[in-house]
Amino acid sequence: MGKIICITGASSGIGLASALKFAHEGWTVYAGTRHPERDQELYREVEQLHFVELEVTQPESIQRVIDRIDEEHGKLDLLFCNAGFGYLRSLGQAPFADIERVFETNVYGVMHTIRAALPLLRKTGYAHIVATSSVGGLVGQPMNEIYCASKFALEGLLESMAVYYKPTFNIDITLLEPGAIATEFNKTVLGHVAETGGILEDEYKPVLDAYTSTFLKRNVEPQTAASVAEVMWDLAQMETKPLRLRTSEQADQFVARKVSTDPTGLDSVLHIRKIQLDL
Ligand SMILES: NC(=O)c1ccc[n+]([C@@H]2O[C@H](COP(=O)([O-])OP(=O)(O)OC[C@H]3O[C@@H](n4cnc5c(N)ncnc54)[C@H](OP(=O)(O)O)[C@@H]3O)[C@@H](O)[C@H]2O)c1
Repeated sequence: MGKIICITGASSGIGLASALKFAHEGWTVYAGTRHPERDQELYREVEQLHFVELEVTQPESIQRVIDRIDEEHGKLDLLFCNAGFGYLRSLGQAPFADIERVFETNVYGVMHTIRAALPLLRKTGYAHIVATSSVGGLVGQPMNEIYCASKFALEGLLESMAVYYKPTFNIDITLLEPGAIATEFNKTVLGHVAETGGILEDEYKPVLDAYTSTFLKRNVEPQTAASVAEVMWDLAQMETKPLRLRTSEQADQFVARKVSTDPTGLDSVLHIRKIQLDL
């Protein structure tokens, strides 16, 4: 039987590019979207690509997708928790409802997704969970503290699970860590800023201005979503799955000071597995 992947946040960007790549490679793809009719119509010529309604803040919506995959295939080889969005206001500026909204998708959304899929992933015999973190899940950045906090939370969640999921459930865990990628991501971030009062003329403005100008200089040529999809594909072929995988040389360099002694995160996982589980 062929391989099955379920991807959240597959209506655009990294999720969509990965859905197309895996479908072209012959996998059966369940591509989670909040616009299933629109997306199915756009890609109706792609075989084995099924757009399914999936809102990660609603556990029942995820469960419906998992139940369908179970009914149609009885297994799920790769769960790609990719849905997420950025947020560009400081803690001092952000209404608390905004902070909750970021965490509801970027953190609780991933928790809901893994919880719903876990029985099916275990039933599969061997499976792989990948979540899209960010270089911002390793390195805190100015005016991005809410977003970085959400991705740091994801890193803690999956790093902890990696210690015992492989020996206990035969499930590998990987955090995909992109740098700047040319997707709808920035449009969504800046759209939210524009819709909620625009750039504020306050004491954070010089920090935001400096951050924005150095960001634009550093990211003249952001990585494409298609290139990230190739990294995802290569990851799916790897015999030994890394806990952490940056998607480009530039992303690697950005976090090098933080992870130089253990770039894949696997040394640490094996160490903690030994000292805490004696495995
Ligand atoms: N682009 C970057 O520079 C960058 C860098 C590092 C990490 N990332 C991470 O990469 C992942 C994918 O982002 P992207 O760059 O591909 O941006 P994107 O083009 O904006 O794609 C984000 C996807 O997530 C979906 N989504 C957002 N909230 C959702 C929710 N509550 N339920 C279900 N789907 C939801 C969006 O659906 P709609 O179309 O319905 O909104 C869209 O399909 C995110 O986790 C992001 O944090 C991006």
